[in-house]
Amino acid sequence: MTRTRTQVGIVGAGPAGLTLGHLLQLEGIDTVILEDRSRDHIEARIRAGVIEQAIVDLLVEAGAGERLQREGLVHHGIELQFAGERHRIPLSDLAGGRAIVIYGQTEIVKDLIRLRLEAGCPLHFDVEDVSVHGLDTERPLIRYRREGRDEELECEVIAGCDGYHGVCRPSIPAGVLFEFSREYPFGWLGILAEVAPSSDELVYAHHERGFALSSLRSPELSRLYVQCSPDEDLAEWPDERIWDELQTRLGLEGWTLAEGPILERGVTGMRSYVCEPMRYRRLFLAGDAAHIVPPTGAKGLNLALHDVRVLAEALADWSRSGSTAGLDAYSDTCLRRVWQAEHFSWWMTQMLHRPEDHDPFDVRLQLSQLRYVTSSDAAARSLAENYVGLEMV
Ligand code: FAD
Ligand code: PHB
Repeated sequence: MTRTRTQVGIVGAGPAGLTLGHLLQLEGIDTVILEDRSRDHIEARIRAGVIEQAIVDLLVEAGAGERLQREGLVHHGIELQFAGERHRIPLSDLAGGRAIVIYGQTEIVKDLIRLRLEAGCPLHFDVEDVSVHGLDTERPLIRYRREGRDEELECEVIAGCDGYHGVCRPSIPAGVLFEFSREYPFGWLGILAEVAPSSDELVYAHHERGFALSSLRSPELSRLYVQCSPDEDLAEWPDERIWDELQTRLGLEGWTLAEGPILERGVTGMRSYVCEPMRYRRLFLAGDAAHIVPPTGAKGLNLALHDVRVLAEALADWSRSGSTAGLDAYSDTCLRRVWQAEHFSWWMTQMLHRPEDHDPFDVRLQLSQLRYVTSSDAAARSLAENYVGLEMV
């Protein structure tokens, strides 16, 4: 067994773990990042694509936003489609000039991995059997196997950035965490297609056959989703069926959706989940390890990066001054934003998805809500400021 030491042991090299490692490196704090998947795997995983202005600013200020600034597409509005019409929500006009940037999560991950490896900071892929120990002590440990050898990492603090299915949260003793969750009776079938996007802005469509979303990754790549069941079998969705469904749900008089080769496809179930607090002694949970939102509000990635910004500042303050005030406030500070995003994501989800039983009462309420949001300045402003990201700590 090889034993090494670090200040902050980070479990998981998703956006949360990699960004935390980068921010702490700027503060002169030693970290080791452990990831149980391969570099190829995490650099190919297609996930989120809408980045809030504040998160763009965070990455740029941290020196990790050079390609994001060059290749990211700034959007100032989104469209809501229902009852055969599209209505634009002018996000920037309604939310103090703030915008969103379209840039794939995968690209952020690639940028952060490259910077970390160039800086020579430890980032170990393909580690096996990761487990955390000694959470009741001042020196918690992470054990894992790397290249066939057992290793032990002694840490001052462990950051659990290992996503919803990770090992950190379940290692917290029973009875400590309160968990809140909701499963939705639907999922999203998502594709990445090699074709120029057919609309300039994202289109969120309410349709009697179910929700659909037209998004993009670049001027040459479209990202499209249709509502499906949470355990949908992809084998039942040949390309023609996917395009037919997208054409029907996003279809409008005088507009057609351009089709192209499908490069990637997958089904994502939808759930809301929060655990409180996001900390147990010297173990801090961040990102999907602590909370999940349904993707309708495009908040998952953004929340993960807000968490690690707060955590990095608190750890830097602790390291500099010995004060634990920031660490003690970490969970409460993050949870205020988390619950705001939970509410917004739940609200967008229930407004836009075909209810399970297609109850006509629910559908009338959805249409009424959509009409209100697209006709009242106050309601549109509320959607806009949540979508671009609320200004709170
Ligand atoms: P993750 O990205 O999950 O990263 C966790 C990392 O920890 C992973 O690399 C994982 O391999 C690693 N790990 C797990 N267990 C261990 C272990 N035991 N040891 C070591 N490493 C471990 N959000 C949106 O806003 N829009 C979307 O369209 C969207 N689509 C999504 C599609 C899918 C399939 C999923 C799962 C999520 C999606 N999300 C989306 C949510 C968004 O991608 C997440 O909120 C974001 O990835 C959170 O980042 P994270 O770093 O907290 O977690
Ligand atoms: C995406 O581009 O993948 C995307 C955009 C908006 C969402 C969810 C996903 O709400």
